[in-house]
Amino acid sequence: MLQLVFRPELHQFDTVSQFAEEFAIGEGDLVITNEYIYQPYFGAMDLKCDVLYQERYGKGEPNDEMVEAMIADMKKLGAHRRVIGIGGGTVLDISKLFALKYLHPIEDLYDRKLPVEKDKELVLVPTTCGTGSEVTNIAILAFLKRNTKFGLADDAMYADKAVLIPEFLENLPYPVFATSSIDALVHAVESSLSPKATPYTKLFGYKAIEMILNGYVRMVAEGKEARIPLLNDFLIASNFAGLAFGTAGCAAVHAMSYPLGGTFHVAHGESNYAIFKGVIKNYLEIKTDGAIAELAGFIGSVLGCSESEAFDKMFGILDQILTRKTLKEYGADDEMMKVWTNEVMTGQQRLMRNNFVPLDADRVLKIYRELYEN
Ligand SMILES: [Fe+2]
Repeated sequence: MLQLVFRPELHQFDTVSQFAEEFAIGEGDLVITNEYIYQPYFGAMDLKCDVLYQERYGKGEPNDEMVEAMIADMKKLGAHRRVIGIGGGTVLDISKLFALKYLHPIEDLYDRKLPVEKDKELVLVPTTCGTGSEVTNIAILAFLKRNTKFGLADDAMYADKAVLIPEFLENLPYPVFATSSIDALVHAVESSLSPKATPYTKLFGYKAIEMILNGYVRMVAEGKEARIPLLNDFLIASNFAGLAFGTAGCAAVHAMSYPLGGTFHVAHGESNYAIFKGVIKNYLEIKTDGAIAELAGFIGSVLGCSESEAFDKMFGILDQILTRKTLKEYGADDEMMKVWTNEVMTGQQRLMRNNFVPLDADRVLKIYRELYEN
C-alpha cells in the first residue's frame, strides 16, 4: 500500500525578492499569476519573463474556456523552458496544465484522449493558505457546458519545486483566508478518514488539523486580526494537508461540492464548507468507530472537549470563521439536487472511492436535502 508521495522539492523564503533571485526568474520562464500579485511583488524587479494574468481570461475558479483562451495567448509568446505558477488554487491548477506537452483541446486532455506528458519544469508558489495544490498532482477544472468540475490527476503534473513564501499571505483578504484555510482543514479531515490514509498521511493531516483549529480558537477569542502572526502556520498547515490528501485523497465533501460550485460559481473553500457538516453527520449515522472515533478524539484533545462533543464544537468554531449558507440560499432546488446526486455518483468516483464509509445515491441525496435549509 502506498504510504506517502512526496514528489516536489520544497523550498521556503521569507521574501519574494529572495525567491526571484535564487530562482533566477527571467527569459524562458512563463509566469502564470494575477496582476494584483505580480505588480506589487515583482513589478519593480523588471524581470524578463513572460507573464499571463489569469483574471484577464475570466473570473473565479478555473474553467475550460479560460484555459483555451490562455493557450491561444501562450502560443503567441514562443517557447518556454519553465512554468512558474504563483497564486491560489486556480492559478496553480492551471499552471500544472501549462507544463504539459499536449493540452489542446483541453476537453480531450481531461477525457484522456491526449497523453499526459510534461515537457517544462514546473514551479508552484501558493499565495493562499488552502489549496495544497503545490504538492499534489491534480488539476481541477470546471467544464462550463457540463456544469461541473473534473479533476485530472497524473504523476506528470507534480511540480518539480514547491515554494512557500509567507510574505504573500500578508495582503490576503479575510474572506480568501477563511475559505482557503477551511478548504485545507477539509483536505486534512477527508484524507485522515480515507481508506487510503496511512500513518504518514495522518502525521501531516492531524498536524494540519491541530494548527488550523488552534489558529481559529485564537481568532475566536482575540478577533480576526489574531491570524496575522499565525499566517506562516496556516501556510505550512495547508501544505501539510496537501501532502496528506495528495496520497490519501479527498472524498465526498469535495465530490458533492463540485456540482454546487460549478452551478453557482461558488469559491471552492466556501462550497466545501457548505457540504462538510452534512457529510460528517451522515458518516456518524453509519459508523461511529474506527478512523472517525480516532479523529474525534484528536479534535477533542485540541479543542479541550470529549470525543462525543468534538465535531459539534469544531463546527461551532468554523461558523464563527465563515458564515455557512444553505443550499436554498444558493438557489438550489430538489430537481437540481437529484441531478447533482447523479453527477456525483457517476462523475466523481475518483473521490467517492475515498469515503470513510460507502455512500450510495440515496445517502448523497439525503445529505443534499438536509443541507437545503439547515
Ligand atoms: Fe480542496
